[in-house]
Amino acid sequence: MSTLNLIVAADSDGTIGVQTEEKGWTLPWRCPKDLAHFQQKTLGHTVIMGRKTWDSLPHKPLPGRQNIVLTRQAAIKHDDVEFVQSIEGALMHANHTQIWFIGGGQIYTQILPFVDNIWFTKIRGATTTPEQRTVKFHTFEYFLSTNWRVERAQSLGFTATSLNSQHHLAVVYQLVKVKVKTL
Ligand SMILES: NC(=O)c1ccc[n+]([C@@H]2O[C@H](COP(=O)([O-])OP(=O)(O)OC[C@H]3O[C@@H](n4cnc5c(N)ncnc54)[C@H](OP(=O)(O)O)[C@@H]3O)[C@@H](O)[C@H]2O)c1
Repeated sequence: MSTLNLIVAADSDGTIGVQTEEKGWTLPWRCPKDLAHFQQKTLGHTVIMGRKTWDSLPHKPLPGRQNIVLTRQAAIKHDDVEFVQSIEGALMHANHTQIWFIGGGQIYTQILPFVDNIWFTKIRGATTTPEQRTVKFHTFEYFLSTNWRVERAQSLGFTATSLNSQHHLAVVYQLVKVKVKTL
């Protein structure tokens, strides 16, 4: 039996991604400790991501994990990566029981009602400006307030740095939400 995990980091505006001239679509902050947390959770498992998140990875595929990429384009190919055309197809290709949906916004929105666990890093403050093109995950916090309970919450002593500035923003918590089982 597989466990479906969603892992996400968002700032106070619900922003999860930004478009920059230098990097294209990317994370709006630098936070090595959160990346280390991401790596520690997902290593040895299957990661499933959208094609835009795949494009945004500086080094690909993510090592030590089975990488599955969702795309509706038939022609994309890359060594050691499986490209699939549907979420059902991705789940059929997964060869580990721990499955991690790692973004981006389109994938989170579609899979949110079906996951077992949510691993959420909250960054306090806004990391982008209104004129920037961003990806947000607006419904996320609302969704978290319904039918979910916090299993573990960890307050964190480290910070993230916005790509826009050298301002340090507190990383408020990493928490695990588990679905409340209804009888
Ligand atoms: N903060 C975080 O935790 C976090 C995590 C991951 C990513 N991100 C950020 O999120 C941004 C990207 O997010 P996004 O929402 O723009 O894109 P995305 O979800 O990464 O990818 C969207 C693409 O996935 C494919 N796709 C979506 N649903 C599909 C389905 N049901 N079946 C088959 N293919 C499907 C399509 O690819 P085709 O167009 O090829 O058909 C679509 O254009 C980036 O800035 C990235 O850095 C943030």
